[in-house]
Amino acid sequence: MSTLVLNINGAKMPVDAPGDETLLSVLRNRLALTGTKYGCGEGECGACTVLLDGKAVKSCQTLVSEAAGAKITTVEGLEQNGRLTPVQQAFVDAGAYQCGFCTSGMVMRATALLAATPRPTQAEIVARMNGNVCRCGTYPRIVDAVQRASMSSTKGGAR
Ligand code: FES
Ligand code: FES
Repeated sequence: MSTLVLNINGAKMPVDAPGDETLLSVLRNRLALTGTKYGCGEGECGACTVLLDGKAVKSCQTLVSEAAGAKITTVEGLEQNGRLTPVQQAFVDAGAYQCGFCTSGMVMRATALLAATPRPTQAEIVARMNGNVCRCGTYPRIVDAVQRASMSSTKGGAR
């Protein structure tokens, strides 16, 4: 057990955790940031997706020691002063969720996608969102949401 200082959503957060604990476990169980979901725990579903220095990673497959020193963004860090990001707003507007369990991971992956590729084609959206699973089968509306977000901001939906 050691004290690590994580940079999460713009704040320095000290946490006592073994370095080989997953980032997902630290976020949920030690820091109560439960917006990031535990789905499979095996890197297969993407429910646990967060951003590390702007890149989408599966936090169940990331050791907390690997995340120390990086800028970590979770779904809790997107909205600012009550304003949703273009990606979050587009998910609401498109109704791109049913149970909502996959949604934070989808939003994080879409945020990274649009930051890298502000105007993706439909095929690019499908390919790049492919690592995230929606068991409710809301895929058409998720693709629609990403397209809406790409059109709603000159930055392509990313803050
Ligand atoms: S919980 Fe991490 S990929 Fe499924
Ligand atoms: S909305 Fe239920 S898993 Fe995607």
